[in-house]
Amino acid sequence: MQSPIQAYLADLHGHLAATHRGELASYIPELAKADPQWFGICVVTMDGVAYSVGDTEQLFTVQSISKPFVYATALADRGQPFVARKVGVEPSGDAFNSISLDPQTGAPINPMINAGAIATTSLVAGETTEAQWRRIESSIAAFVGRDVSVDESVYRSESETGFRNRAIAWMLKNFGIIDGEPMASLENYFRQCSILVSCRDLACMAATLANGGVHPLTGVSALPAEHVERVLSVMATCGMYDYAGSWLYEVGMPAKSGVSGGIIAVVPGRFGIGIYSPRLDEKGNSVRGIAACKRLSRDFGLHVFTRNASPAMALGRVYSGAVAPSRRQPAAEIRAYLSEHARRIKYLCLHGFLAVDGAEYVIRRMQEMAPDTHSFILDMHEAIGISESAARLLNRARLGFGEDGIAVVCSRIRDRRAILSPLSKAAHKGDRGFLVFEDNDLAVEWCENRLVSELPATSAAMGSLADSLLFRGVPEPLLRQVEVATRAHVYARGEQILRHGQEGDGRVFFIESGHVSILMPLQNGAHQRIASLGPGMEFGEMALLGQTTRSASVYADTEVRCRILEAGDFARISDAAPLLKVTVLQNLATDMANRLRGANQWIAALA
Ligand code: DON
Repeated sequence: MQSPIQAYLADLHGHLAATHRGELASYIPELAKADPQWFGICVVTMDGVAYSVGDTEQLFTVQSISKPFVYATALADRGQPFVARKVGVEPSGDAFNSISLDPQTGAPINPMINAGAIATTSLVAGETTEAQWRRIESSIAAFVGRDVSVDESVYRSESETGFRNRAIAWMLKNFGIIDGEPMASLENYFRQCSILVSCRDLACMAATLANGGVHPLTGVSALPAEHVERVLSVMATCGMYDYAGSWLYEVGMPAKSGVSGGIIAVVPGRFGIGIYSPRLDEKGNSVRGIAACKRLSRDFGLHVFTRNASPAMALGRVYSGAVAPSRRQPAAEIRAYLSEHARRIKYLCLHGFLAVDGAEYVIRRMQEMAPDTHSFILDMHEAIGISESAARLLNRARLGFGEDGIAVVCSRIRDRRAILSPLSKAAHKGDRGFLVFEDNDLAVEWCENRLVSELPATSAAMGSLADSLLFRGVPEPLLRQVEVATRAHVYARGEQILRHGQEGDGRVFFIESGHVSILMPLQNGAHQRIASLGPGMEFGEMALLGQTTRSASVYADTEVRCRILEAGDFARISDAAPLLKVTVLQNLATDMANRLRGANQWIAALA
């Protein structure tokens, strides 16, 4: 099935390709050589999927679309206060080449008009203009997602005819806006305008801004998040020059046009749009580009002032630790306690990009559940990102609930920087921030341990053979016989007790004190923890069924004291007392049935 978005774009392209209104730019002679029929539309999602139609690989010069990205580079290099002293952020309402300077300071009104852009070009980092050029080139390459090159013929064409821009550059030098050699900076400006891009590149540049400064395909951070809002604000108010007001009114997306016929439009957190069609209207904007953006905004509801998804959408499933307990099989007393109290562990599945309104809604739901809650697990599996203000709000809630003895931990973030970095930034000095668990099993076990720690110490400490499920129902005297046959061994914290695939090992281990983890090796070399065992529990019991090849690895999480029974000794004792074998095998069968049921429950809970 063709993607409905792809089909929609093909219809839109077909419809607009029939309009032939507008002229090619010719004040830069080289630009007049473009094919007026060229027309491409590309939309890129936050996870890097590109929907393309038409001439999306056709290369052309980026022209003024370079301006917001060089402004971004100057902000990142020199900081907002410094740049703000040199270039304003007010819409001029004038044409792109108007000499709109602040009457007092001589500072250009905004960085999107040529005067502001030429000033901005002179502000990027670099001791020499050559170094500044390399900085501009590498920064734009980060937004595009590949190395870029300059169309030398367009560059020369503009440099040889750019008299108005030369006048502007000298004006800026005159007002001390440009410190260095103005003509050298201007050549860098002409070069940045002559960088070759395709429509798809434009969509990637826009998507990088929409994705908080991170390129959706390369994952490279092209711009620190704090500057993204500033760049998008200037694009929203000044990006379309003396058409900016109508644009924001009718289309409602921060955007930037270029005189070669490109337009980029940004839908924060959702899409990057790139359009290329060299036929321009009287204001120097692509005719088909504007028409396409109007349609996309209307048909997909992309206007930034459109009511966003309901905050309640941020919270998906809510269920308790009673439904999805950890995979450990604790001793009887602990299991009984958990079966009564595990309902006080609450999983909250968060969805999508969490902004302040979503965080507010989630926290309000947590407050409603708090009276009957001991720990909250924020399951981030379906979350794609979190805003810094939402992270601060959640962290403040975590500290607040903490004062009431309620823990709030996170799970399944994996390495998503869009979640990890705002959360870690939200933690104050000396505050360790959110505990983050690789998966729900580790998270819920941590919460269970917190619950169990409420139990009086004695019951949880030392396990014995009698506690083991394996020997439930075995008469005391027989149990003594088995105990005598065991030997004690202490494993140090972190020690590997058993190795997956280890051959010919007939030992069964009974934990008297401490905790071990059962790990399964994964294809990628990592390990998945499948269970964690404590006092009164056993592992390696399959050896009693003659299976001596180890099916998992076992590591001591703490110092572990075990009693070890050799399968041979068990066979010797049970040959003399068949009741022992029958009872143990029955218990083994029951335990396996429970594990199977547990696994099915877990799969159902995850489904
Ligand atoms: O400076 C110029 O005039 C061109 N390099 C860029 C102008 C431009 O792209 C205006 N955009 N609509």
